[in-house]
Amino acid sequence: MSEPHEDSPTSAKMQPDFLRCEYLINPLGIDVPEPRLSWQVTSRQRGAVQAAYQIRVAESVEALTTAGDLLWDTGKVLTDASIHQPYRGPALRSGQRCYWQVRVWNGDDLPSSWSEPAFWEMGLLNPSDWQAGWIQPDLEEDPKNSNPCPMLRTTFHVEGEIESARTYATSLGLYEIEINGQRVSDRVFTPGWTSYHHRLQYQTYDVSDLLVAGENAIGVTLGDGWYRGQHGFSLKRNNYGDKLALLLQLHIFYKDGQAQIVGTNDSWKATTGPILKSDFFDGETYDARLEKRGWSKAGYDDSDWSGVAIIDHSKGMLVAQASPPVRKIEEIKPIEIIHTPAGETVFDMGQNMAGRVCLVVQGPAGTVVTLRHGEVLDHKGNFYMKNLGVEILGIKTLGRARQTVQYTLKGEGEEIYEPHFTFHGFRYVAVDGYPGEPTLDSLTGIVLHSDLPPTGHFECSHPLINQLQHNIVWAQKSNFIEVPTDCPQREKAGWTGDIQIYARTASFNMEVAAFLAKWLKDLALEQWEDGSIPIVVPLTKAYSIGLMKRLHGSVGWGDAATVVPWTLYLYYGDMRVLEEQYESMAAWVGYLEQRATRIPLKWLLNPVNWFGNRKRERQRYVVNTGCHWGDWLAPGVGPAKNLFSNFINPPALVATAFFAYSTGLMRQIARILGKTADTERYTTLHEKVKAAFCAEFVREDGRIKPDKQFAYVLSLAFDLLPEELRPKAARYLAENIRKHDNHLTTGFVSTPHLCHVLSKYGQTDVAYDLLNQETPPSWLYQVKHGATTIWERWDVIRPDGSIKRSGTDSLNHYAFGAIGDWLYRVVAGLEVAPDTPGFKHTLIQPQPGGGLTHARATFNSMYGEIESAWELTEKGEFRLSVNIPANTSATVRLPGAIMEQVTETGQALSEAEGIIGTHQEETATVVEVGSGQYEFVYTFSRVP
Ligand code: BGC
Repeated sequence: MSEPHEDSPTSAKMQPDFLRCEYLINPLGIDVPEPRLSWQVTSRQRGAVQAAYQIRVAESVEALTTAGDLLWDTGKVLTDASIHQPYRGPALRSGQRCYWQVRVWNGDDLPSSWSEPAFWEMGLLNPSDWQAGWIQPDLEEDPKNSNPCPMLRTTFHVEGEIESARTYATSLGLYEIEINGQRVSDRVFTPGWTSYHHRLQYQTYDVSDLLVAGENAIGVTLGDGWYRGQHGFSLKRNNYGDKLALLLQLHIFYKDGQAQIVGTNDSWKATTGPILKSDFFDGETYDARLEKRGWSKAGYDDSDWSGVAIIDHSKGMLVAQASPPVRKIEEIKPIEIIHTPAGETVFDMGQNMAGRVCLVVQGPAGTVVTLRHGEVLDHKGNFYMKNLGVEILGIKTLGRARQTVQYTLKGEGEEIYEPHFTFHGFRYVAVDGYPGEPTLDSLTGIVLHSDLPPTGHFECSHPLINQLQHNIVWAQKSNFIEVPTDCPQREKAGWTGDIQIYARTASFNMEVAAFLAKWLKDLALEQWEDGSIPIVVPLTKAYSIGLMKRLHGSVGWGDAATVVPWTLYLYYGDMRVLEEQYESMAAWVGYLEQRATRIPLKWLLNPVNWFGNRKRERQRYVVNTGCHWGDWLAPGVGPAKNLFSNFINPPALVATAFFAYSTGLMRQIARILGKTADTERYTTLHEKVKAAFCAEFVREDGRIKPDKQFAYVLSLAFDLLPEELRPKAARYLAENIRKHDNHLTTGFVSTPHLCHVLSKYGQTDVAYDLLNQETPPSWLYQVKHGATTIWERWDVIRPDGSIKRSGTDSLNHYAFGAIGDWLYRVVAGLEVAPDTPGFKHTLIQPQPGGGLTHARATFNSMYGEIESAWELTEKGEFRLSVNIPANTSATVRLPGAIMEQVTETGQALSEAEGIIGTHQEETATVVEVGSGQYEFVYTFSRVP
């Protein structure tokens, strides 16, 4: 071990920076026994590589530099690894704070200086750490309806000088805490949403500055939230229970070494106040006349409040919140107040979003202002809410989100109100009962979502494509609220299929690793014994009954179990997620295997199938039983027809293709994790499924039965065809698209792969024609029709502005936004290299086309910012700017270049610094580079 106190000179010309623990900056209250530490290496030099690192950890900043006081010192570790390095020091205790810093060595064995210290702090690690009891307000309630939000309070005495204080809290339902009249945090919808049957998150707050000497008070408001509020398309309530409860513990540490714990117990008091109803789907009803001034401060008279009951609820299921919380991320000012033909006053926020509005109003006490939230105006320009419910066969409405907020004024001057326990999906707000004339300042949009760092940026020379990218990002913002949901208004449900297809695009736009890893834990917990996976995670009542129940285990949806962890591994180099999800992934593939071995009666009864063992043998690898969504939402196939036909006739091609896909991923994952026997088993299974797929669906000339776009897309995307048939199949696909006048006919699970297979097999121009298409079905049709997020269906709004009622009319579904992945990876050419996950090595390989004259993507990877930006100048020059972060490298493929003619920052390639190798391919020059900023310039000499 080296001496911790001796600092080194900074001659390394590189510096570790941006220290993170479990993806978070200085996290408070984590419960990972071996937290992983990551840092970025910064250097202005090209080709900067970290040759070694040293981490030191101590319990105070001072101890980091005091010999003998360190908790853990790695010594000098010879490696270029700079992300996800697990802490391997002595076991960590509850509440323990660890400071850490790191230094690195360059290739010449010169050390950097030590980084600035960072820290992490452990939460409460054992159920026995919770001395507080679960308390339930003793209030009369009607479990069949929304009830007023309970308020709870207690007081306590502080004596002595405080060193620090922490509040640990969780609840059944949602909670908001105030100490001495101040909110303890800007987190929204705590304790967040997990599969409450299995685990419940608690949060840790630093409340050192909120306490005062003498008498103090804590006040907590509870809301229905996911726990007992309505959920899903049929608005079922009480999904986990019908009573709210709170568990809270405040630890006070005094300067003299004494400690005090204040917790929820039977001395707390309870009542109800101004929030008369609050529900994620219905909205919130608030009567300001019922506010209780000073209720969370000492000295408030709570003598007429009720008591609380101690209840027996698990503390063993508590887990620390591991991913960024929901917060108010931005504010939006309305762009217009519209007076509709029907006489409504409607605010246009100019952006479809998830969140709520803050109302500013002044008027007599008792005045009721009503705010209704909708996504769209109908073709006459009137406020429209009918798309907020599901209809089956266009007839029956199962439930419809009301998204209505009602505020009753207290009449004391200017009043400012923002709802507490609700959010809506909306762009327009219809205002009723506003005293006087509202102005644009009367409402402000509050955008809410999980506070995930934005990591990606894409732009190009086509304004409509830029708006498309904007819409994709906003659909993601609107649906990354604690769990990845389908839409923020109608269902707010963790549909597995949606994130299965969108995970890659999501990973470019924002850092979703911790967020999705958290959701995957719930997916594994909710998986059934036979490996089948619910269609939504967390599973709620609306999705556990009737037809919905039969659809659990649908392919393309359940494959989230394999595809999402694989994506996190690729984008963030996260091996732990593969290890932790391995059993769940294997169980899902096992489930598909079981499904495949079942041979449908229809098949057995068909005399054609009575002869030939080979045919029978291969049936064991074809998934042709069960209920699946198939290639859901293909243009022209309504949801009812889709469901009905898949019910009668399971979509065997889609199902078998996904069986092969997930098995292929398992093969790779087993290999990466060093599981030799599993690798062999999945390799054999993968081969058999592929062979069965080809025998069943593919003709010798590469034609697929059915001769439809989705069939070619899935076969090519999942590498199911023999090598020699692939270009042919891609040609048939291209012909089919041309036959449809450059339109797609693909649905939910195949569309994300459509442009990729075209560009992979030499049909990039067809892919660009699809991208540039402006008539439906197409991405730019909706952009041209004013979309500000991605629509659920291509033509929710018809060209004449009318809204087609089909039950799938959400204007805020990210699923078809999965084209974003193609914009980053192919148009800008910023591609992940599967063998060096986390962008340790990046492939820069733009495929210009479609009339674009420039495109630029940046991605803030775990190692730092990667950039690929190209421009086609009027002189016919192609310029490519590339930035590769220190401690990583890249392969740059220069399309249409001849090596000798390429310059890099004005120099011949052979002269340029940082270039590791070059070679010429038929249509491109390939350059291997180390880290740094590069500018390649040349004139297209060959068709790229
Ligand atoms: C949801 C989808 C989901 C689908 C299942 C819809 O109601 O909104 O996005 O994947 O059902 O096909």
